[in-house]
Amino acid sequence: MATSLNYFAVTFRGLEDLLAEELREFPTVSITQLQYRRVYFRSAYDPQLTGLTCCDDLFLELAQWSGITRDRANISRMQDLLSHINLTDAISHIRQYRPIPNDYTISVTVNHVGKRNYTSAEIKSVAGLHLAPHYIENDSLADLNLRIFIEGDAASVGLRLTAQPLYRRSYTTRSSGSPAKLKPPVAAAMLRMAKVTDAFVDPFCGNGTLLSEGKIQGLDGSGGDIIGSLSRLSIAQWDARALPLATSTVDRIVSNLPWDIQIPIKAGAEDFYASVSRELERVLRPTGKMVLLTTTPEMLQFSQLREVASIEISLFGQRPRIVQYEH
Ligand SMILES: C[S@@+](CC[C@H](N)C(=O)[O-])C[C@H]1O[C@@H](n2cnc3c(N)ncnc32)[C@H](O)[C@@H]1O
Repeated sequence: MATSLNYFAVTFRGLEDLLAEELREFPTVSITQLQYRRVYFRSAYDPQLTGLTCCDDLFLELAQWSGITRDRANISRMQDLLSHINLTDAISHIRQYRPIPNDYTISVTVNHVGKRNYTSAEIKSVAGLHLAPHYIENDSLADLNLRIFIEGDAASVGLRLTAQPLYRRSYTTRSSGSPAKLKPPVAAAMLRMAKVTDAFVDPFCGNGTLLSEGKIQGLDGSGGDIIGSLSRLSIAQWDARALPLATSTVDRIVSNLPWDIQIPIKAGAEDFYASVSRELERVLRPTGKMVLLTTTPEMLQFSQLREVASIEISLFGQRPRIVQYEH
């Protein structure tokens, strides 16, 4: 029987359950713990894990440390704990997934939740000394990434499974880089929440993140935006307050609505959302599902559709919600 190893997958705050749902579809996976921004699981080698869509970054777990308090003495304690990690074995597991050169380079990322009397940079420099001569500062040039995630008094230490974080998609490097651009794992989570298995419409598609994410998942997304077509995607130019779509014809609507901070709608936000709500409800089939990312769910007024689920996430320093509606 293939050996099972411990992993942890990092995602956006609020998306932990959807990532766990995606992981449960793997026959090799058994979930051990859900934590803030992380899902812990055991799995035998499965190359498909590197295709997880609701995941920001995926790590082979090297250690779990306890008693990591806010006291500065923990810096030298972590230095000692790092010396007990068997990186050689871990690298040979990662080599099942991808080639790693013998003279590999390794970067370090530290995340900590809550106040401490030491900084991420201090832990990083201790880890860097320990990993010399392989250590490099620049993560995007490194063959490997060591992640130390500290929450409360516990720390998880992991080695990134993939060459680049999973949130990077081939399509993101080609887009125009608008600040409102959706993060791919958030787009994947929205498509999952809407249970899209075939076609969907994004009436405010912007850079087309949802359409591109749908495409790599084999889904048939179409959409439009008031700013019109982007060269790499053929999208319609439309005003979502008057969609050129027949009544009750759309099975799935998945969209990131204009945020209340965006200038064009600031003046008449109430009227804007009232017209948008009417139009979305008109085109959606009675059996359809709609999933919207919005900072202003209270402004959406539907006559028949009701909210069946709502998840608050953290994005661009705000707390928007992914809201699911059905009849
Ligand atoms: C939050 S952005 C969507 C971002 C998109 N999901 C992405 O990843 O690029 C909202 C989009 O709504 C568009 N928009 C604003 N008012 C609109 C309207 N009345 N009809 C259609 N699109 C509109 C904006 O041009 C913007 O691209």
